[in-house]
Amino acid sequence: MEIKNNTAVFVCGSKTRKVRVCGNVVRIFSSECVTDELVKLNFDEQELKPDGNDVVIGDYRLRFCNGTFSIYLNEKIVFSEYTGDATIYTENKDFSLAALEGHKSEGEKSEFATQINITLAENDCVYGLGDKAAAIDRRGYEYVQWNTDDPSAHNESYKSLYKSINYVLVSGGSGYYGVFYPDPHRAVFNIGAYKPDLMYIASDGSDDYYIILGKTPAEITEAYTALVGKPLLPRLKMLGNQQSRWSYTPHSAVRDVMTRFAENDLPLDYIHLDIDYMDGYRVYTVDKSRFPDMKALSDELAENGIELVTIIDPAVKYDIEYSVYADLEKLDGYAKRDGKIYHNAVWPGDSVYPDYFNNKTADYITNKTAQFIEENGIGGIWCDMNEPASFNGPLPDDVMFGEYPHSRVHNLYGDYMVRVIAKAFNRNNVRPFVITRACFATSSPNTVAWNGDNQSLWGHLRVSLSQISTMGISGFPFDGVDVGGFGGECNKELLIRWIQANALSPFLRNHSSIHTRSQEPYAFDTATTDIYRRYLRLRYDLIPYLYDLAHVAHQSGVPVMRPMFFNFPNDSACRRISDQVMIGESIMVAPILDQGANMRSVYFPQGEWVDMFNGKTYKGGGAYVVNMTLENSGYFIKSDSILPMYSGLNNLSKKPDTLVLRLNKPAKYINYEDDGRTLDSKRNAYEIDFDGRTLRLKTVERGYDTDYKKLIIVIGKKIIKHDFAYDLTCTID
Ligand code: GLC
Repeated sequence: MEIKNNTAVFVCGSKTRKVRVCGNVVRIFSSECVTDELVKLNFDEQELKPDGNDVVIGDYRLRFCNGTFSIYLNEKIVFSEYTGDATIYTENKDFSLAALEGHKSEGEKSEFATQINITLAENDCVYGLGDKAAAIDRRGYEYVQWNTDDPSAHNESYKSLYKSINYVLVSGGSGYYGVFYPDPHRAVFNIGAYKPDLMYIASDGSDDYYIILGKTPAEITEAYTALVGKPLLPRLKMLGNQQSRWSYTPHSAVRDVMTRFAENDLPLDYIHLDIDYMDGYRVYTVDKSRFPDMKALSDELAENGIELVTIIDPAVKYDIEYSVYADLEKLDGYAKRDGKIYHNAVWPGDSVYPDYFNNKTADYITNKTAQFIEENGIGGIWCDMNEPASFNGPLPDDVMFGEYPHSRVHNLYGDYMVRVIAKAFNRNNVRPFVITRACFATSSPNTVAWNGDNQSLWGHLRVSLSQISTMGISGFPFDGVDVGGFGGECNKELLIRWIQANALSPFLRNHSSIHTRSQEPYAFDTATTDIYRRYLRLRYDLIPYLYDLAHVAHQSGVPVMRPMFFNFPNDSACRRISDQVMIGESIMVAPILDQGANMRSVYFPQGEWVDMFNGKTYKGGGAYVVNMTLENSGYFIKSDSILPMYSGLNNLSKKPDTLVLRLNKPAKYINYEDDGRTLDSKRNAYEIDFDGRTLRLKTVERGYDTDYKKLIIVIGKKIIKHDFAYDLTCTID
């Protein structure tokens, strides 16, 4: 092994491995260092420390021995390449019968320019890869990272969905590690599906990949998100409840939603406008017959604490009379094939695709978005169909986005779209509110995500917890699914169970398709509305807790909603739990996910857990069958927790002046406060320490003039009111 220019070059016979290191991230490649220039990563290689033939990073040792590159921790292997037979298995891939029956063939490919082979130890679980419609452990499955809009009911056999987040977190035999493959080309992740001890990544891209080290999943997530970019800090308001439907139109339908929420005393922060607000699906236009004065409508909503979010799709209608089409044509701003503008079809019919990789197009779209937001008083932009979707068959590989072929930029299309849209908010010093369906690993600094077109199925409710928490550990802490299901007919029991399961989802939106029955919280009966309200209240009361988690996620990448193993990495019972999750450190959600069920098994990790609804206490370290009702689903608080809360809010437009602290036993906590909206807001951090009798609040960061006037401390049935102060001590008798 020799070290040249911060690169360790390991040679063994005809094999070479080159290694660079940045903090806890080890970059491995064998030929040239060729991460795609379009994928922007934060990796500044550091000086390497040799020790004989090894390279040492902290407690880890990198070694290339007998043609196998491995990483050791205390002389135990944490990560190791696979050097056995890794031929890609192609038997039983005859789809002719399926094709005869009219089904789509999978058409799999078995030869790739690059194959990275990694050994899986017997008990390893593999997590990550973003939005797959499956339980949390990916082992035994194969996925193809190629952003895909497939409207049928997703399940665990779907290899590709909307997002390509080429990152897995492995709970290895001797600890955890992450693997990130930065190449944007179509990539196969076969995770022990053909050979149980082999995980391979195959693609026509480069062989450059990253191993992320750390003693805990949290440490690994921190290092991974430092590499791909830390998640954005959302506006406080974005944590509020959002209501959508394809489509609320005309304007009176939007007012009706606002009125019905108010009449039913249901909290609401945003209403989403789907494609029918546009004039013939022309982006950046408004259909004046349906929305004669959008600005007046948004002003009226704003008076009631509600903002509008409008959908914007990438595809531009081919219409030479339409200014957006004509302007971008003049800028040479569209994807082309054989030198001519490439056409396909999306909602507007004959459509063309903006080339976001071209700076002039990008600036044009940013300006258009900024103007649209301002003119119409829009709070957020919903980016859809950006895989990119195409109704006339897939875009051929040789469609060119400037100098880049579609095969190379397909998975980056959504990522570049959201960068361009986010800039429209950034330039006004407002935190971007962009929601996206398609993305790449690097999109999280610019956007929140939702998981696309699920359906009103119990199976999709069940999988929502693993989808959101897996997006979380894949670097996307602000994610959600369509509550109630997008396609298919929702019913009241399903809607109730869905809001119970997702009430603390980082991004919370009820959305449904035009072809389905209504599923707003008031669309069934009073009993359903009452239960829905109860869970929205729970969320709004816990907004300061969720916002603290947003600060933590922005700083460290550690997600809001987490799979159980993430918080309890050494508890083997947590490793494959997909039907209960942690919200931060203190709240465990283990809801009913089956029709007609009124009890379920809940695993309680170490500690003491209190049922939020009936106060019953459970001692951790085992599973219990817990009875639940239609009103009360499974919410459990770790008894040594401090929960910061608000009280009685119906929207988050104005920050309240009272902070409530709910506590029980000795505990410590940090609460953050800022203006909740601007990019450069400074913040306060309050360290709260309760020793069982005395509560101390100390301001450890002070950058913002607090909005708090009152502090209310709730311990069991005792309520103590205090004037807020930056430093205070309160003794509880
Ligand atoms: C796509 C989106 C869905 C939206 C619909 C119409 O299917 O995923 O959310 O309602 O398009 O715009």
